[in-house]
Amino acid sequence: MIIKATQDAIEQAARLIAGGGIVAFPTETVYGIGANALDPIAVAKIFEVKQRPLFDPLIVHVDSMDMARSVAIFDKRAERLAEAFWPGPMTLVLPKTSAVPAIVTAGFPTVAVRMPDHPVALELVRRAEIPVAAPSANAFGKLSPTSAGHVEEQLGDAVSLILDGGPSRVGVESTIIDTTRAVPTVVRAGGLSREAIERCIGPVCIDISASERPDAPGKLKHHYAPRTARLVLLDCAWTKNARPFAPGKRYGLLAFRPSHDLDGFAYTETLSENGSLEQAASRLFGALHVLDAQRLDVIFAEPVPENGLGLAIMDRLRRGAADQDEML
Ligand code: TXA
Ligand code: MG
Repeated sequence: MIIKATQDAIEQAARLIAGGGIVAFPTETVYGIGANALDPIAVAKIFEVKQRPLFDPLIVHVDSMDMARSVAIFDKRAERLAEAFWPGPMTLVLPKTSAVPAIVTAGFPTVAVRMPDHPVALELVRRAEIPVAAPSANAFGKLSPTSAGHVEEQLGDAVSLILDGGPSRVGVESTIIDTTRAVPTVVRAGGLSREAIERCIGPVCIDISASERPDAPGKLKHHYAPRTARLVLLDCAWTKNARPFAPGKRYGLLAFRPSHDLDGFAYTETLSENGSLEQAASRLFGALHVLDAQRLDVIFAEPVPENGLGLAIMDRLRRGAADQDEML
């Protein structure tokens, strides 16, 4: 059930989590589905509801550095990143403490930790008084939810409480930085840009290649896919000559900027009026959800520049489109 995130509703949600239940809640990146990170049985419910494989570890959400230190061990570099970007769309991969059960980290000796920049998420963790393990609140592999309605569409029957805090401001998941490697490495592009990270700690590696291997968490290939149509990533902005339309099929376009020349499309969504990558990221999943509801056969997506948040947008589009070209 969707409930507006009033203080009373947040208190109710916190009690549910403290009692071993699961709750969907807003963050600035996407909506999450959370459970007590220190309770393996509660965490197992998340995997069940999402149909998520147990080899894919979860992110632990905290409301303070004290709580963060109870689940992970910070070195100087991690401290520096946390100070600069928390609360915010950044997740740190750090050595875990013994407080964190193996199911949360899929048996890895590291744990992913984040302090979200959303008043509802922070208040929920603060009132529950425990770290909250939460993946994005979508069915495994499907489009990420940036509104309470998206959560209800995908998980509605399985989640008793969905806190509604309005649309997610950032719109793509957090950037995950593995600081346990010799050179800090971005293992998932997200809401914090590489440029911002490098201004803080100097050069980082980027390792966001897709993989089906269970030993490479965070990099699963088939992800972020629409349910009803095939997503095809174009090499450049749409022009009439880009691809032939097959007769009898319904086509949609995910345009980066306002496009002309839209003859033949049954439906079009535009990510930004002025080419802002922040605006495009914030609208990305909402636009894909809308396109997914239009009974289309194919959704063409225009590429965006791969700087700033464009890296995360292109990553999501590539994964959503993975291996579907040959099915055209
Ligand atoms: O913005 C976000 O990060 C959202 C909100 C709800 O906070 N959460 C989110 O969670 O995107 P999820 O489960 O959809 O993605 C978490 C990713 C997973 O792909 C997982 O493999 C990776 O984080 N991850 C978790 N623990 C890890 C670890 N120890 N090392 C590397 N990657 C890890
Ligand atoms: Mg996810």
